[in-house]
Amino acid sequence: MNSAHTFDTVIIGAGAAGMMCAARIGQAGKSVALLDHSAKIGEKIRISGGGRCNFTNRNLNGHDGSQYFVSQQPRFVRHALSRYHSADFTALLDGYGVPYHEKHKGQLFCDHSAQDVIDVLQRECAKGGVVWHTECLIESAAPFQTASALRFELHTNQATFRCRHLVIATGGLAVPAVGATPFGYELAKQFGHSIISPAAALVPLRFEHWAQHGYDTLAGIAMPVRISSGSGKQAVSFDEDLLFRHKGLSGPAILQISSYWQPGAPIHINLAPAADVAAALCGGKRNQKIQLNTALKQLCPQLPERLLDFWLAQPQFTASATQKWADIPDAVLQNLGHSLNSWTLLPSGSDGHKKAEATRGGVNVKEINPKTMQSKQQSGLYFIGEVMDITGWLGGYNFQWAWSSAVCAAAAV
Ligand code: FDA
Repeated sequence: MNSAHTFDTVIIGAGAAGMMCAARIGQAGKSVALLDHSAKIGEKIRISGGGRCNFTNRNLNGHDGSQYFVSQQPRFVRHALSRYHSADFTALLDGYGVPYHEKHKGQLFCDHSAQDVIDVLQRECAKGGVVWHTECLIESAAPFQTASALRFELHTNQATFRCRHLVIATGGLAVPAVGATPFGYELAKQFGHSIISPAAALVPLRFEHWAQHGYDTLAGIAMPVRISSGSGKQAVSFDEDLLFRHKGLSGPAILQISSYWQPGAPIHINLAPAADVAAALCGGKRNQKIQLNTALKQLCPQLPERLLDFWLAQPQFTASATQKWADIPDAVLQNLGHSLNSWTLLPSGSDGHKKAEATRGGVNVKEINPKTMQSKQQSGLYFIGEVMDITGWLGGYNFQWAWSSAVCAAAAV
């Protein structure tokens, strides 16, 4: 039998943003309920960062931060990130004695387990007297006007909830197996919001005829590359590691570029970013005695041998690996060098939401106040975290967005 529960604020989605927001609202002395359809809360935190949760990035301290986010309005993030910094979140973890370390490019990970972050958020929620409802299926959410104020009423399988403020923190579409749904987009549309078409981001890419080209035999090779896509003002590039897989490419380089990649567009991979291979192969005096493969190994010591052997065996190179370097025409060497410095590939698609770490697109942030996260379409309605058209780079930026946007909304309700 349904009974009505009244709260100052109801938050839908007990993930990173939802828990942070609920804790802050509760600690400010307001009543708050956190509803989630899953039995377990914070599942994306648990599986993040290989189980160690890359919970923020130090590079955000002292920056406006917008360069680390993909959105139709990247500058939207500036206020929230300046209000609640990466250092604020580390101070929160320090207060609970959670040990962490910096791994790479400012990325901070738990020393032990992502569960440490979930525990901190749960303890923060407990301090604020947050009321939890898990396995709570939301059947409808609608505004209604009382004599004195506007309220929201939510019908669920557990109870009817009434509140002054409704916060949507249902995240993106990545990994439906841990509870991701398009619910937030549907609710936003119901309240008159537009949705920037969601697509998998931070996701491995696939290529047609991968095995026919023999690239599947390179599976397991990991190497530093420079990856780029787009042109002119849209051009982006990352210096990161690339991972060859049986079905295509992955690794941080691919995950980063996938957030920018548009279907039908090529990506360019510089397999030897430290060298201009064509110039090095053609220029200067060539050692008369050494073979092409030995020359390449000397010029590009960072290229894995397995990749190099494969590269030289490709039919388009008329020179063989064992031919004397000095005997090979410049045009052939230039072609080879160029192929290593600018390997151009046309992705056929991605592994999709199942394997993605984030979603590009979401609720159009033009219709949200960047200081309060309140909807410009519906008073009392707020959006926080990944449900919005804000996607961070790989490296802790998505969690920092969850924390910062949550803190702004909590202060506003
Ligand atoms: P989040 O997804 O955390 O929470 C949404 C909540 O809403 C969930 O609890 C869900 O059950 C609930 N929900 C959904 N639909 C609902 C409905 N219909 N009714 C009720 N509840 C509903 N980021 C980063 O910065 N560093 C990292 O290391 C990683 N690593 C990583 C690994 C993997 C495998 C993934 C999939 C993702 C990451 N991320 C990451 C991204 C990061 O997890 C993500 O950006 C944040 O969790 C987003 O926080 P939100 O609170 O917005 O959504």
